[in-house]
This record gives sequence, structure tokens and C-alpha cells, in this order.
Amino acid sequence: MRTQVAIIGAGPAGLLLSHLLAERGVESIVIETRSQDYVLARIRAGILEQSSVDVLRAAGLGGRLDAEALPHRGIHLQWPGERHQLDFVDLVGRHVYVYGQTEVTHDLVAAREAAGQQLSYGVTDTAVHDIHTERPSVTFTDEAGAAQRIEADVVVGCDGSFGPSRHAIPESERVTWARTYPYAWLGVLADVAPSTDELIYAWHPDGFALHSMRSPKVSRFYLQVEPGEDLAAWSDDRIWTALATRLGEGVDWSLATGPITDRSVLPMRSFVASPMRSGRLFLAGDAAHIVPPTGAKGLNLAIADVSLLAPALADLVAGDARRADSYSDRALDRVWRCTHFSWWMTTMLHRAGDDFDAQLQLSQLRWVANSSAGGAGLAENYAGIPLEL
Ligand code: FAD
Ligand code: DHB
Repeated sequence: MRTQVAIIGAGPAGLLLSHLLAERGVESIVIETRSQDYVLARIRAGILEQSSVDVLRAAGLGGRLDAEALPHRGIHLQWPGERHQLDFVDLVGRHVYVYGQTEVTHDLVAAREAAGQQLSYGVTDTAVHDIHTERPSVTFTDEAGAAQRIEADVVVGCDGSFGPSRHAIPESERVTWARTYPYAWLGVLADVAPSTDELIYAWHPDGFALHSMRSPKVSRFYLQVEPGEDLAAWSDDRIWTALATRLGEGVDWSLATGPITDRSVLPMRSFVASPMRSGRLFLAGDAAHIVPPTGAKGLNLAIADVSLLAPALADLVAGDARRADSYSDRALDRVWRCTHFSWWMTTMLHRAGDDFDAQLQLSQLRWVANSSAGGAGLAENYAGIPLEL
């Protein structure tokens, strides 16, 4: 097979990149290890920044999003006895939107299928070749077991944190930074109307809790747990009791409960690989960086990367390399801002360390909640710094 851009991975980064390239008249092929059903059913992030919504709307993907996304003015920050709303619109003039990654993926797959995008699911043995030549290629085994090769002008690794693309950059060129946090999240999806108008991020002596949502009828919750926590140790009763305690202590509020439809344990880590390009191989999204979920940045960063990359690749295949040459530095600028913000939110809200650490966390929370300077810093980062494309 021959195409202009070979894209590895049909997560939000790969699917949106193929869409943005097609808008610019650039042809691509997308390959994916999982089945389409798996890709469409995956439950992950829930919050879109204003800039991500702007990108999706401008790409003609705003139909269902505008009808179904829940715009929020801000979030609630909480600790025992106190709950404060931070109003991002007042503080920085920007909203955030509740619209799950599952829905974004749905819209992207529908749009790519309608446009006749070549997309192969269920591939194995993906390998990247000749990235330092003008003719890089990707080999793989297709769903039917046949060996395949895609020759391209450019290869883009959108294959998430466990994909092979990052490792195709020679070790001598690559620097990575990583942090593993000493806790994990238990994520729960429940068929119950949210008990809050906006997300609640709660500090509690028992550990962090987050009340999020997916729709007016579906709630999403997270509880800080030990890394490698055994799911079997968390009965429905234990989950609802922990959520009611951590989210409700000392405030006049009650939590509605309902059937739990999904639960999983998520590790928490930060990871950045630099550069995000070597020769004719580019990386975007989780293939190059992972953030802990506390700041809701992972999906938004993937969207920001490909928004920069699509015009750069359109120029590159037309013979102008300038934007492709600056892609890695420009993308990493935002990546490090979001890496810092996610680390900051995570370390402010999770229980670790001793009572001295706890007092520092509470002092910082009071400052963010009560000072317009402190609040604006959180708001600017959470609602997302505008994209400079
Ligand atoms: P991915 O969505 O990971 O997509 C990569 C794709 O590449 C996958 O479909 C994968 O199957 C495919 N692939 C991998 N290897 C190969 C190969 N060899 N060949 C072909 N294809 C391959 N972020 C938040 O902001 N909030 C959250 O609550 C949140 N929860 C998360 C929960 C989990 C379990 C995970 C893993 C991530 C979560 N994230 C969350 C992060 C967010 O979902 C990611 O940042 C986002 O999915 C990044 O998109 P991506 O397209 O770069 O990568
Ligand atoms: C969700 C996940 C997050 O990490 C976050 O900070 C906010 C919301 C969610 O899945 O709804």
C-alpha cells in the first residue's frame, strides 16, 4: 500500500489526525491493533477544554457535541467542612465541557467512515522502518493473517503509551522523564443522575475523591486507592460509603446511588519523551506523554498535538518543512505546562506523606479557593491555555 501519511493507532489522536489531514487534502491510512467494537466502547476521559471543543467544531465534528455536551462554568474544590466553587468563566473567560472520550471517538469513527477513510482494525506485529529516509514504511499483519506494508511520506505514531512507535526513535536521540505516583484511582461508572451541578474534587484524610459525570443520567466517580488495589475488595456498599464520606464530610449534601455499570483501577504516572519527531516519524498523544488524570489533560493534549501536527504535515508533503521542524518544540511546550499542572493538582489533592504534608495541601487549597490570583492559576490551566496554531 502507498499513502502520504501512515498513522499507527485509532485512538483520538490518530482518528482526529486523519480527519484534519483529509480536510487539507492529505491522504492517510490508519491501522489499529484492537477491534472497532473495543475502540468504540473504551471508557476513559470525560472533560474537554474550550480549545478542544473549538478544534472539533472547526473540523465539522460539533453536531452531537453541541447537542449533548454539558458546558460547565467551573469546578468545586472541597475538603472536610468546606466546598468552594471556582468559576472559570469569571476568572479566565473560558468554559469546560462534559463530553466523554467515548463520545468523541464515536463522532470521529462515524466521520472517518462517512469520508471513506482506510482504517484497518485487529492488526498485529506493527513495525516502523526507514524513518531517516524519504520513504519510511510500516509493516503489520492484517486481521486475516496476511503480511502488509504501507509505504508513506511520513509515519505518525498515535499508538498510546504501550505502542511501538516511540521505541523506533533511536535511543541515542531520545530522552524520557517519568514519575510514578504512590497511589491509583478506582474509577466507577453508575446509572444515577449526578448529585452535583459541576465536578467536585475532594481532599479527604481517607484519600482523594472526584465526582464527575457523563450525562444528566450517568455519573462517573474516582476514589484514591493503593497502587495494584484488588477490585474484589471494593463491594458496591464500600464504594458508595467511601464516596459519601470523602465527598460529603462536613457539608450539607447527600449522594444519590445507583447501579454500578463499570469499575476499574487506573495507575497514575507522568511520562514525557522528547523529541516528538525523528526524521520522518512523528509522535502524538499518549505515544509521547502520559499525565496523571487529575487535571483532565490527557485527551486534551492529544487533540492539541494533532492540531499542530496536521497543518505541519500538510506543508511537509507539499515541500515546506518549516512547521514540521518546529512541531516537537512547540508541542512539548504545552506538554510540559500540562505535565506540571497535572502533577500539581495530583499532589495537592491526594493523601501521601505525613501531617505536615496534609497541612501544606490544605493551605494551598484554601489559597486557590479564596484568592483570585490562586484561583485564576488553576482556572487558566484547567480550562486550557488557548492553542496557538
Ligand atoms: P490512545 O487513546 O491510547 O490510543 C492509542 C491507540 O493505538 C489505541 O487504540 C491502541 O489500541 C493503538 N495501538 C497501540 N499499539 C498499537 C500497534 N502496535 N499498532 C496499531 N495500533 C496500536 N485522561 C483524562 O484526561 N481523564 C481520564 O479520566 C482518563 N482516564 C484514562 C483511563 C485509562 C485506562 C487510560 C489508559 C487513559 C485515561 N486517560 C484519561 C488518558 C486519555 O484517555 C488519553 O490521554 C487519550 O486516550 C490519548 O489518546 P491517544 O490517541 O494519544 O492514545
Ligand atoms: C474525569 C476524569 C478526570 O481525570 C478529571 O480530572 C475529571 C473528569 C472523568 O472521567 O469524567
